[in-house]
Amino acid sequence: MCGIIGYIGNRQAVPILVDGLKKLEYRGYDSSGVGIIPSSDEGVVVKADIRKTHGKIQNLQDLIRTKPLPQSSLGVSHTRWATHGAPNRVNAHPHADCSGRILVVHNGIIENYEQLTQALCKKGHKIISETDTEIISHLIEDAYRGNLLAAVVKAIRQLKGAFALGIISSDHPDMLIAARVGSPLIIGLGKGENFIASDVPAILDYTKRIIYLKDRQLAVLKEDGVRVYNFEGKSIRVKADKVSFKVDAVQKQGFAHFMLKEIHEQPEVLQRMIKTRLKGNKVILDGLNLNERQLKSVNKVFAVACGTAYHAGLVGKYVIEKLTGIPVSVDAASEFRYRNPIVDKKTLIIAISQSGETADTLAAVREAKTKGAKVVSICNVVGSSLVRESDGVLYTHAGPEIGVASTKAYIAQIAMLCLLALKMSSLKKFVKEKTRKKILKDLKHIPTLYRDILRNKADIARIAKKNSHFGCFLFLGRNINFPSALEGALKLKEISYIPAEGYAAGEMKHGPIALIDEYRAVVCIAPRSSVYEKMISNMQEIRARKGKIIAIATQGDEAIKTHANHVIYVPPTDELLTPLLVALPLQLIAYYIAVQLGCDVDQPRNLAKSVTVE
Ligand code: AGP
Repeated sequence: MCGIIGYIGNRQAVPILVDGLKKLEYRGYDSSGVGIIPSSDEGVVVKADIRKTHGKIQNLQDLIRTKPLPQSSLGVSHTRWATHGAPNRVNAHPHADCSGRILVVHNGIIENYEQLTQALCKKGHKIISETDTEIISHLIEDAYRGNLLAAVVKAIRQLKGAFALGIISSDHPDMLIAARVGSPLIIGLGKGENFIASDVPAILDYTKRIIYLKDRQLAVLKEDGVRVYNFEGKSIRVKADKVSFKVDAVQKQGFAHFMLKEIHEQPEVLQRMIKTRLKGNKVILDGLNLNERQLKSVNKVFAVACGTAYHAGLVGKYVIEKLTGIPVSVDAASEFRYRNPIVDKKTLIIAISQSGETADTLAAVREAKTKGAKVVSICNVVGSSLVRESDGVLYTHAGPEIGVASTKAYIAQIAMLCLLALKMSSLKKFVKEKTRKKILKDLKHIPTLYRDILRNKADIARIAKKNSHFGCFLFLGRNINFPSALEGALKLKEISYIPAEGYAAGEMKHGPIALIDEYRAVVCIAPRSSVYEKMISNMQEIRARKGKIIAIATQGDEAIKTHANHVIYVPPTDELLTPLLVALPLQLIAYYIAVQLGCDVDQPRNLAKSVTVE
């Protein structure tokens, strides 16, 4: 996944293009660049000018400081997460055509770029990078006969794959062209200026009026207005949305990292969801777009997702099955799409994705729809690709999640799955009403319990730092907290780079226990539950082999101290809701260990916030 920005207007373009990149750095940060059309007198054609470099955007800022770009009010910029070609200066965007007059920035993957490269080279074009992007500028050059829009339409109709493009040309210093298929692209509408960006935070300082460009649409932006077209070149009317969240929502607000800020936002995220989705004990699922008859007719559920969202889906399995009696399968989206799943029109697909742009999840949804299934997405980004391909959407409205490690989106996904299960349960009358009411009551209380845990974060930080020297971690959980173990391990490994494995605790004796010795740390998730005694037995097995245990337990459980080296307490709640609670200490353990090790918590190496490629 990459981040792109474009600007045309009455201000200097470069500061806007670079500052905006900083806000998109979470999308990829292995190289970056800015390209502009220098301001000139009417009718004077000046070649485009580019600055680009490998590494973080700070390197680009340093380069521009030492080698400033000329004055300009038209430009594009890009921060890269390499898919084709090494992350170096030559492969960084923008990419130019042979004449150096056409610049392109791109987010996505061009699947037929090799064939197009051969055809262009046969025509004498010189391709200098290893990317799948550079050929786009040459295709436009090849098609150009004086009309840039016509040349762009001709070029992009040859492309297969996913692309969000920003295009400028020295011959047309009054326009910026944007186009998208499969990768997100928004248009920001300003006064005497207009913007394109991969995501809203990049331009929120300048405008809140946004057009979400749809697949197979392109736009021509000028200083005084924007026209949108389809790929047949026909002009289409689109409406602008008004963004709800504020600029500071994308700043750190005094926290050391976005991840820590977002962990602290979790009480409010849940509070907001409960407030908008519960009227007394009635669950309100606006956007579900399934009527009660359709919901009652569901006889099988598939949850499809990736990474942390997949773990939320696993928690959802336990909740939905327990409250509705409907069988739930949970697939990693990358597996679902290739295993010819048994899906029919009575299957409900729940696609879970924070970004709504994860390529594997999108592909899984497309696969399911070919089989007649209804798709409901649980998503955090309004207007994202997944939302547009779903029959219904349950927005988590967790606000922008900038930290690459997903935290608040995860608990919001779990909470939304609980609400969906409670809704379906009330229709199926599968459990007693008093059971539903108790769960709802406990759910409403979770934000308060989060605050209790956060008040105790210094203890969690102390325990985390004390165990940050271990070279390997195991995370163990049972039943509904088996997914919590998987999520705890993912959180730790993705930001601290420490090998960590989540396991069903009952599986320990079937192999993994061979790992246990005094050099391993084991996080045991053992809140009061129907499997508590089993967890204690596992802890005894580990202790007998000198394993070091960090236990996550229920407040008041003194006995567990004899089985663990450290205990982190969470308040009591319904067993079905314990994954919501234990998520917080698991996130904080990972966070404080990563900080202790000096890791780049918000932008871990090799990762991107949303993986929009296969
Ligand atoms: C989570 O911490 C990771 N960053 C990653 O596993 C993420 O959950 C996964 O890529 C799915 O992203 P999505 O929710 O945007 O689809």
